Amino acid sequence: MVRSWLLCTTVALVTLAAGCSARSTSASAAATPSAVRGRPIFAANCAACHGVRGQGSVLGPSLRAHRRTFASILRIVTDPESPMPKLYPGTLTAEQVRDVSAYVESL
Ligand code: HEC
Repeated sequence: MVRSWLLCTTVALVTLAAGCSARSTSASAAATPSAVRGRPIFAANCAACHGVRGQGSVLGPSLRAHRRTFASILRIVTDPESPMPKLYPGTLTAEQVRDVSAYVESL
């Protein structure tokens, strides 16, 4: 009786610990958008219209003209006004969208 209670408690604790660590790993990965990772994503997907440093071109406005928040950039990239192409979902992953938004915010 005592043995089976011990076994049960051990299994429950191990399951709890595994569940917690798995959750915190994915949450922290999602919570840290990286401007460093976003830079090459911007070069490949955005610079043709917005310029290599976000200064703008005939195809797209300067991204330095307005100081936008991360959340507002994220919203524009996720749901852009025409003629800006919708690159998510499809071309970019959710993580790449966060990274490129962090990069644009840093410009
Ligand atoms: C084909 C050209 C093109 C590409 C590629 C493109 N954009 Fe745009 N983008 C535009 C145009 C045009 C607008 C202005 C849309 C409008 O009329 O509101 C715009 C608007 C924006 C704005 C809002 C600018 C402001 O402050 O008003 C942001 C932020 C932005 N783009 C970010 C990005 C990012 C990040 C990428 C790459 C993932 C990207 N764009 C790719 C053409 C482009």
